[in-house]
Amino acid sequence: MRVLAVETSCDETSASVVEGVGDGFRVLSLVVKSQVVHERFGGVVPELAARAHVEVIYHVVKRALEEASLGVGDVDLYAATKGPGLAASLIVGVEFSKTLALAADKPFVGVNHLIGHVYSAYLSKPDLRPPFLALIVSGGHTEIVMVKDWYSFVLLGHTLDDAAGEAFDKGGRALGLGYPAGPKIDALSRKGNRDFHRFPIPRIKRRGYYFSFSGLKTALLNYIRDKGEGFVRENLHHIAASYQEAIVRHLLSVVKRAFDDLNPPHLAVVGGVALNSRLREVFGEEFGERVVFSLPRYCTDNAAMIGAAALKKYELFGEDGQGVSVYPYLGVIEP
Ligand code: KG4
Ligand code: ZN
Repeated sequence: MRVLAVETSCDETSASVVEGVGDGFRVLSLVVKSQVVHERFGGVVPELAARAHVEVIYHVVKRALEEASLGVGDVDLYAATKGPGLAASLIVGVEFSKTLALAADKPFVGVNHLIGHVYSAYLSKPDLRPPFLALIVSGGHTEIVMVKDWYSFVLLGHTLDDAAGEAFDKGGRALGLGYPAGPKIDALSRKGNRDFHRFPIPRIKRRGYYFSFSGLKTALLNYIRDKGEGFVRENLHHIAASYQEAIVRHLLSVVKRAFDDLNPPHLAVVGGVALNSRLREVFGEEFGERVVFSLPRYCTDNAAMIGAAALKKYELFGEDGQGVSVYPYLGVIEP
């Protein structure tokens, strides 16, 4: 069975053809077009994102089919991200994909973006099977999920304020690095001393596996204000490395607690922030061979992970059909 999946939940327009092979998946093509219009605004502008999706979606889908050497008639299932994400952007992908399904008289399924991120782990380690623990760390989400079965999830914890990616992006903005700042902080940190300044690592009183990043961001803002512009510019790589260290240490401490309590066979780390080199180093040291990092091409938003999740969803629950809408606030465990 082959699915043509589309992802337009935020600022990447992506299409992919994925084939089901036994219990697993083979990615036949993946095209990702990142929007650059947002850079000068320091964050994603929803209205501009939706328009940019409209401009390129046809070309992105066409190229995904060409790269897979397939025509529309060779596709058995159509899929798109239905949420969470920006409403108008989601609508572009869902309606485009539903229309193709309608014209080709084929089934359509809407996919939860966060479940898509979990499925990037299967694409990255083909013999991975449930159960496992998953840490979803992206620009909009920080969640710990127990993957009990292919489509059975238990939400164990989440951020109480900013997402980990937001901590990188907002911190980076304060340091004058532009958007998105995660990759820039990562690159600067390689030449920096992470012990240069100790930013406070959050301690959360609430029982469970929760994260909080807003205090850290405030600590950075205060530090920048106290030290002054010249000092910050001179020591940018040290400050970036110290700030990144606090984010990574906080993620590790909460995840380690969940991992020790539940003792899962594997821990999957997925989402854009899973690209972070310090996070990979620290988690690799802590969890050894039991940690599975999403491959770089499946970390940031992409339609291949949506395609894999769609194939399994269709196999287990059948099609959603043409009545599916978009769900901007969809929770992680809702299929
Ligand atoms: O998963 P993703 O592409 O989009 C969302 O679903 O949010 O994640 C994007 C986020 C951004 O916040 C970006 O700054 C962050 O991932 N990011 C990184 C790195 N590369 C991307 N954060 C830290 N280190 C990186 N190397
Ligand atoms: Zn995402």
